[in-house]
Amino acid sequence: MINKLIVGNWKMNGNLSLVDEFSQTLDARVILGIPSVFIAYAHLKNPTMQIAAQDCSVYADFGAHTGEISAEMLSQVGCKYVIIGHSERRQTSNFDNQQNVFAKLQNVVKTGMTAIICIDESYPALVDNQTKEFLKTNLDKVCIAYEPLSAIGTGKVPSLKDISETLSKIKNTYFGVKTLYGGSVNVSNAKEILSVELVDGVLIGGASLKLSELNEIARLS
Ligand code: 13P
Repeated sequence: MINKLIVGNWKMNGNLSLVDEFSQTLDARVILGIPSVFIAYAHLKNPTMQIAAQDCSVYADFGAHTGEISAEMLSQVGCKYVIIGHSERRQTSNFDNQQNVFAKLQNVVKTGMTAIICIDESYPALVDNQTKEFLKTNLDKVCIAYEPLSAIGTGKVPSLKDISETLSKIKNTYFGVKTLYGGSVNVSNAKEILSVELVDGVLIGGASLKLSELNEIARLS
């Protein structure tokens, strides 16, 4: 099990004290997705920490877009990865339709960061042709995280066989792209999930808020 990606997604959780705590002793292998407002602070506290944003603007660079944060701005404050198209955003925000997720993908890759595109069970319908074409020539800068809706925050992980079969379909469809699994990953099940050959990494929600648990999972990678 070499070089599997361990990605945390705090979602809309955490505070500056938690950032302080993580910045001191987080395993260097972890990529931590924190609320954008904490990114610059976390980077100053620990410039070697691998930080992900949980979204970026559909608009490129700069402009009259009140409240938006561009990929370029995230990159400037030390962010290296951006999670895009998370199901919690696709479901609650019309702004994360296919076309806009594609625009975000281009913006992330243009800045030299890596995009983590989230898809659920309905993935063929979530990746349009232009995204597929883009993936073909940017495989080193994109991962796909398969997060079944039935597994997010529910404690119900699909069987390892199901995970493997779905990731196999995704890899076959999208030119061998790196595939992550997400949904109720925790310290008790991470070892067996990471042992699945096609699992190139995991995307962890709730359990990523517990430093000791996240570090323990990182040690398995
Ligand atoms: P949980 O690990 O809390 O199920 O969340 C998964 C997720 O949505 C990560 O992006």
